[in-house]
Amino acid sequence: MTASRGCSRGRWLAALAALTAGCAAEHPQSALHPASPESREVARLWWVMLAVYGAVTLATFSLLAVALLRRRGDQPGSPPGGSVRFVVVAGIVVPTVILVGMLVHSLRLNAAFRPPRGDFTVRVTGHQWWWEVRYLDQGIVTANELHLPVGAVVRLELTSADVIHSFWVPSLNGKMDALPEHANAFWLRAEAPGVYRGQCAEFCGLQHARMAIDIVAMPPDEFERWVARRRAPRPAPDADEARRGRDVYFAAGCDACHAVQGTSAVATVGPDLTHVGSRRTLGAGTVPNTRGDLAGWITHPQRLKPGNLMPATRLEPDELHALVRYLEGLR
Ligand code: CUA
Repeated sequence: MTASRGCSRGRWLAALAALTAGCAAEHPQSALHPASPESREVARLWWVMLAVYGAVTLATFSLLAVALLRRRGDQPGSPPGGSVRFVVVAGIVVPTVILVGMLVHSLRLNAAFRPPRGDFTVRVTGHQWWWEVRYLDQGIVTANELHLPVGAVVRLELTSADVIHSFWVPSLNGKMDALPEHANAFWLRAEAPGVYRGQCAEFCGLQHARMAIDIVAMPPDEFERWVARRRAPRPAPDADEARRGRDVYFAAGCDACHAVQGTSAVATVGPDLTHVGSRRTLGAGTVPNTRGDLAGWITHPQRLKPGNLMPATRLEPDELHALVRYLEGLR
């Protein structure tokens, strides 16, 4: 009996785990699907506020309905002073108690938002309109995605190269501004593997909406492998076409804006392309990183994301193909 109950409980837990894992995939950008202690506090505060203010709204509109339905003189015996007491209690005392109570409750949450000790530091720089991600301890540079090991606390140095942006990954933490010429200390941690979507949360220009970042939380050993792969020396492309693509990269002037480690391309105007082949999206979440979208991005970046700094690159079809092969191989 006990064994079968334990078994059925195990099954329930497995079903619950599958359900919540499904939630993370279905709600990659939701403050109501928390995956860290900080975002759980935010979600809890939201539900408390919804309950309390929902009850207040319900009570207020119920009283309004009573007032509208009752006519003056319905209760001839009621003293005229009774309504004054009601206004004082329901209009001043009750709202004061509720508002002060909610203020104290939300201020107590500040304790949950003291930066914990970080395991390593990543500098995240907002650009119009993409995120530069620099692993200061590991020496890795990428863009628009941040990989981290589950359970670790990643210390963030948040800053901006141009205007004010705001870094927000709703499932993992609150918001923090990314300001030019100033670094704000922030942090991220994830309790379960998965991809958590973040979004710039401060209007920063035409393509503010297309300024996403993917936080990829992976098991610690997988993260170690991810780091090791990216720190390994970059081999020269092995296929003829990819080698030709590397020549096109320099001939077409891609190196004027984009760095590729291990080559003479060191510019930092646009995203570092050293690992571009392994990225999930292009243009900070604008299109998936497929061969066709990569070719489309190179030839028509303004059609996909009008106003971004990248000019269109005119190439012969075979040059474009070679360049795409080269970039795909940068993993
Ligand atoms: Cu960056 Cu909005």
